[in-house]
Amino acid sequence: MKPENILEIKNLKVKFPVTGGLFLRKIAEVKAVDGVSLELKKGETLGLVGESGCGKSTIGKATINILRFSSPDVDITGEVWLRTEEGEIDLLKLSRNEMRKHRGLIQMIFQDPYSSLNARMSVGQIIEEPLLYHTKMKKKERGERVAWLLEKVGLQPEQSKRYPHEFSGGQRQRIGIARALSTNPKIIIADEPVSALDVSIQAQVINLLQELQSEFDLTLMFIAHDLSVVEHISSRISVMYLGNIVELGPGTRIYHHPIHPYSKALLSAVPLPNPKLKNKERTILKGDVPTPMNKPSGCGFRTRCPIAKPECANFIPVLEIKEPEHLAACPYVTA
Ligand SMILES: Nc1ncnc2c1ncn2[C@@H]1O[C@H](COP(=O)(O)OP(=O)(O)OP(=O)(O)O)[C@@H](O)[C@H]1O
Ligand code: SF4
Ligand SMILES: [Mg+2]
Repeated sequence: MKPENILEIKNLKVKFPVTGGLFLRKIAEVKAVDGVSLELKKGETLGLVGESGCGKSTIGKATINILRFSSPDVDITGEVWLRTEEGEIDLLKLSRNEMRKHRGLIQMIFQDPYSSLNARMSVGQIIEEPLLYHTKMKKKERGERVAWLLEKVGLQPEQSKRYPHEFSGGQRQRIGIARALSTNPKIIIADEPVSALDVSIQAQVINLLQELQSEFDLTLMFIAHDLSVVEHISSRISVMYLGNIVELGPGTRIYHHPIHPYSKALLSAVPLPNPKLKNKERTILKGDVPTPMNKPSGCGFRTRCPIAKPECANFIPVLEIKEPEHLAACPYVTA
């Protein structure tokens, strides 16, 4: 691993079988993630954006290695290297038991605070649960840590006896954050943590995550649909389309000067027009996203690309350096 990195994802591929017919045989497969390599530098926030179904959550779940256990038929290849005090470890090679030892170092916050918290458990139990699995803390110590975590996320320790339904969406997401923080992780993968919340609450939750990031020295992967959500907080942004990264670069660069035709279109879709992007540069995407099951041959974006050429059916574009730190997967664009 590079010395500045805490996590390196190498050529990750995730395929889900599609079954059908009388005997539920495999009839096709969904290439949800189709050869993704990503690095997380220690302390940074990496934004991961793309439309629904492009594979963002699958990358998150494969990275924390829960996919293998939640979807036993899934086919996962590639490497996910994590830097730990005991050295560099490829998480994908670990057994369930070995994974338990390291799982506390890398946690995930989920999109929907209404369904991701167990409704039958009290808030205290929800936050305490990872401590039971991943630490050797005694009951009293766990109780103290739960109270401390509730305060850290802006809730009161007395609220630990209450149940999730007694809280608002924003408060529930704070509970999810406290749970993710409980094991003292080094990395948090926040999977659209604010998209289910009222716009007025979104900023509060994002600010909280940023405060906690500096206090706990966290590295964040922040997943979102929309570039405007990640722009303010991401040092780097990667843009995904149908299982592949199509552009990767510094956050401000991707937001103000995207070069891949898909990133340009995604930015045009931002509801408040970005005044820095001139009208002539605006691209509106036509057609629906093909599903990962019937991905076009060659460049996966060619059926919607405004500058597609016949040759684009013949090769799969790879990420190329277009300027320092700025990569795009299209041979026809320049920075
Ligand atoms: N357990 C599963 N079994 C079968 N297919 C799946 C499974 N999980 C995800 N997929 C498929 O993999 C593709 C990627 O899904 P994923 O949830 O990673 O997308 P996403 O980018 O997170 O979308 P969204 O923005 O809607 O959350 C989709 O086509 C989805 O239907
Ligand atoms: S390779 Fe072709 S289809 Fe793909 S983004 Fe570039 S121009 Fe568009
Ligand atoms: Mg998702």
